[in-house]
Amino acid sequence: MCGIVGAVARRPVQEILLEGLRRLEYRGYDSAGMAVLSEDARLNRQRAMGKVAALEACLAEAPLNGQVGIAHTRWATHGRPSEYNAHPHQSGESLAVVHNGIIENHEALKAELEGQGYVFTSETDTEVVAHLLAREFNRSQDLLTAVQQAVALLEGAYALAVLHRGEPETLIGARKGSPLVVGVGIEETFLASDPLALLPVTDRFIYLQEGDVVRLSRGEPPEVFDRAGERQERGVQTYEHGDGAASKDGYRHFMLKEIYEQPQVIAATLEGRLSERRVLAESFGPQAEALLSRARQVHIVACGTSYHAGLVARYWLEKYAGLPTQVEVASEYRYRRVVVPEDTLFVTLSQSGETADTLAALRFARERGYLGSLAICNVPGSSLVRESDLALMTQAGPEIGVASTKAFTTQLVALMLLTLSLGRRHGLDAAEEARIVQALHALPGVVRQVLGLDAAIEALSTAFAEKQHALFLGRGAHYPIALEGALKLKEISYIHAEAYPAGELKHGPLALVDSEMPVISVAPNDELLEKLKSNLQEVRARGGELFVFADESVRLEDTEGVHVLRLPRIDEALAPLLYTLPLQLLSYHVAVLKGTDVDQPRNLAKSVTVE
Ligand code: G6P
Repeated sequence: MCGIVGAVARRPVQEILLEGLRRLEYRGYDSAGMAVLSEDARLNRQRAMGKVAALEACLAEAPLNGQVGIAHTRWATHGRPSEYNAHPHQSGESLAVVHNGIIENHEALKAELEGQGYVFTSETDTEVVAHLLAREFNRSQDLLTAVQQAVALLEGAYALAVLHRGEPETLIGARKGSPLVVGVGIEETFLASDPLALLPVTDRFIYLQEGDVVRLSRGEPPEVFDRAGERQERGVQTYEHGDGAASKDGYRHFMLKEIYEQPQVIAATLEGRLSERRVLAESFGPQAEALLSRARQVHIVACGTSYHAGLVARYWLEKYAGLPTQVEVASEYRYRRVVVPEDTLFVTLSQSGETADTLAALRFARERGYLGSLAICNVPGSSLVRESDLALMTQAGPEIGVASTKAFTTQLVALMLLTLSLGRRHGLDAAEEARIVQALHALPGVVRQVLGLDAAIEALSTAFAEKQHALFLGRGAHYPIALEGALKLKEISYIHAEAYPAGELKHGPLALVDSEMPVISVAPNDELLEKLKSNLQEVRARGGELFVFADESVRLEDTEGVHVLRLPRIDEALAPLLYTLPLQLLSYHVAVLKGTDVDQPRNLAKSVTVE
């Protein structure tokens, strides 16, 4: 999704902004641009289609000199990717704005502004904001007032950064529904969609709240105003999570680096939350007791990969905690008449904590009489964390690859902690908890062993490079793992992939199986194994080539058309977590063979901050 960077400094800002954009590349985008106010208060702009490197080449030809500027990576929503639709958008030669979000009433505003003589040169909803801001500035001759007046007229979601040559030492930011943080340096201040963008220049941040408008003036501390226009102190927080975005540490892609980080980040997510035999009660913070002990059912809401983690948790919560659990994608949930039984806990899952639909679902849920809300999230200070009653942080560290890997497995770890915590309050046998806790302690080591299979998985990947389609099968808690495997493959290799519960094979997908359709299956040694084996026979009988990831004890022959890769023994409860890894590696290697943009696949965004 669109990324914003802004700076008010006492030094040239072009390089700071450019580095910020590079660090936001992971969000997904199709064009980039920058506007800087020069020493003589002229507004200069450069925009380019494609990668930040293309903008950089333009800037090498014609640098933007100045100490106050804004920059943007655009992910097209209104109007195709093109230079004229790229941000910053201007109104005349005086005002420039960058925007992340969607202005839902842009058509009505555009008609009004055209009636007042404003001329549009792009197809974007953002240009409406530029002219609206210019009109309000003409009325008030004050940029802060102009932004406050203009945002009051906007419906939808926005994070904005605004410059005006009439106030050459000021930058205004505003946010509602899209992320924006303020970076606080020494005598210089910044704006960005994500703290990562600014880590080379500061580690001190103000997290703006919904409806906030902030004025950054050169040499002054930031001034934050709430939606009522009242001055507020939001507090400066130090970013303590290291600069994970800095390098690929010698890996070819961030995705591979992140796959390989899983032993450490799983260990970090468990740290301080387990005794030898139990999940520690303090894991969920002091207010958790009341919420968790009263919960009689659970509703889980999320998007994308996080949704798949929720689907696994349903099997766990019902099996180990005996709690009826419902899991739904946020974009469906929020527009449905949801029936909420008494004492239902509302759980959101999100890597970023800024996904628009998940956030909207949380706000919708607040009015529905839930017991309370728990966010399982990877980004401290994110909107989801701030707005939930409880938060359980995954400790995956910054995830840069658009295709989520380590965030997913750490979400599963957090969900198992939740399951055991709830389970203990609802009759889970202490011995069973102890068995699973011991398996959790051993998990980072077993994950490391599975990563040792990388070369064998890479060898399998060659069979997929020329294929158009693939089918993933799983049963029970491994059906969501099959879904996640299919999602990974389609996201980064652009091969059409579908997942089915293996028992559904005969009800449709078997019609598609022939020698051109590889079928991937996860076969841990669980109670459904024999049934799964019969399903695999059905595939083989139709000439389908099988790729089976199986427990080391499973008796399955590696014969012609059947490739079996054996995984180490793991407690049944944690098998979904382990079987995710070979599917991540398989997708990765297929994508590398196909030569796609692994870390930033086409048309996708890391953080989907619009609906
Ligand atoms: C996007 C990302 C996915 C992610 C999903 C939900 O689609 O590309 O990797 O799973 O958003 O994001 P969240 O941050 O809420 O987990």
